[in-house]
Amino acid sequence: MFKKEMETARLAALEAGRIIKGFYGNLEEIRKKGKRDLVTEADLMSEKAVVAAITKAFPDDMIIAEEGGEQGKISDRKWIIDPLDGTTNFAHSFPFFAVSIGFMANDEVVAGVVYNPVMDEFFEAEKGKGAFLNKKPINVSATANIRDALIATGFPYDIDKKSDEIIDRMKRIIVEAQGLRRPGAASIDLCYVANGRLDGFWEQDLKPWDTAAGCIILTEAGGEITDFSGKGFNPWLKSIIATNRHIHNDMLRLMGA
Ligand code: IPD
Ligand code: CA
Ligand code: CA
Repeated sequence: MFKKEMETARLAALEAGRIIKGFYGNLEEIRKKGKRDLVTEADLMSEKAVVAAITKAFPDDMIIAEEGGEQGKISDRKWIIDPLDGTTNFAHSFPFFAVSIGFMANDEVVAGVVYNPVMDEFFEAEKGKGAFLNKKPINVSATANIRDALIATGFPYDIDKKSDEIIDRMKRIIVEAQGLRRPGAASIDLCYVANGRLDGFWEQDLKPWDTAAGCIILTEAGGEITDFSGKGFNPWLKSIIATNRHIHNDMLRLMGA
């Protein structure tokens, strides 16, 4: 149903990945958008390539991209783009970052791709068609108990303002789960729950471009996504709990729902 959209997203992400890899370990300019929020020439060049590819294929669609903001006419067809998710990792040559492209039709994310160019891992999903890593079907883990679960999280750039509540939640997870990780790219964290490398993930204050693609990949792989209060997920919500489904109630409890 969204064949052309998927193909456009795929080609755009591969091209953006090629651009990002060219800058990897080789950056001339790193700017600060805020106290610890970075932007590099790779973010900007990647976004330029993705936006150009999408605009060429679908000139009437709306684009919401991290660096350039909203572009094009208001439309119920929206592309949500993070040209480089995990910029801090990228700037430190820590090989965990991705291009993330989600597509929304009528307020629902129906297609998404997340590409980690260093590991050459390409996650993708279209509504109703399952989720895939490098063309092979993926599924969430069967881990049924939070004690056996490997969980990931991330921190907002303005963590100074809310460190207590964030540390409280981390403490509860560290005490109950098998392990906690902070990998540094929310789009990949969601894909890792989708293919069972992780059992759950939570974060607050993410942006639509961090989660749009990952959320369809995770739901198509059998996962569950809500906010901290259990409300059904959309990319504009202020908090996210993403799990293999089996540990979702435990995660809700530990997040303080
Ligand atoms: C960030 C990453 C990180 C998450 C931050 C995001 P960026 O995105 O996804 O894992 O913890 O909240 O802002 O800035 O690297 O695109
Ligand atoms: Ca991001
Ligand atoms: Ca980014």
